[in-house]
Amino acid sequence: MKLQFTLALTALVSLYSATTLAAGDAAKGKVLYGVCAACHGANGEGQEALNAPKLAGQQDWYVVRQLQNFKAGIRGANPKDTNGMTMAPMAQTLPNEQAIADVAAFIKTLK
Ligand code: HEC
Repeated sequence: MKLQFTLALTALVSLYSATTLAAGDAAKGKVLYGVCAACHGANGEGQEALNAPKLAGQQDWYVVRQLQNFKAGIRGANPKDTNGMTMAPMAQTLPNEQAIADVAAFIKTLK
């Protein structure tokens, strides 16, 4: 019983890490980042005038989660959240989980 629980837990944990940390291709992510650069800056430095935060130095798993949340309408869906509502349609330019992983992998390379 205990072993089965441990196995189930292990499977769950590996499934979870697989979905959150899908291997991203930074080269493909660089192409996708072209859209993002307009607001977040070519080096991910951010632009306060556009309310777009710095992305350089941010952890990839956090970037992935925020992009998933924007895409799913968990973040940036409230009309009072003006800045979030600016970002939400941008997350829609990333067609799937692989694209999210790719762009996050590229952002990780920004210093
Ligand atoms: C039109 C301008 C604009 C573009 C283009 C844009 N963003 Fe954003 N982004 C924003 C704004 C504004 C915020 C801040 C949202 C908030 O305050 O909640 C933001 C927030 C984010 C966040 C959350 C940061 C955090 O610390 O929580 C991530 C990640 C992000 N953007 C990634 C991207 C990526 C990747 C792209 C390209 C696919 C992109 N953005 C394109 C304006 C933009």
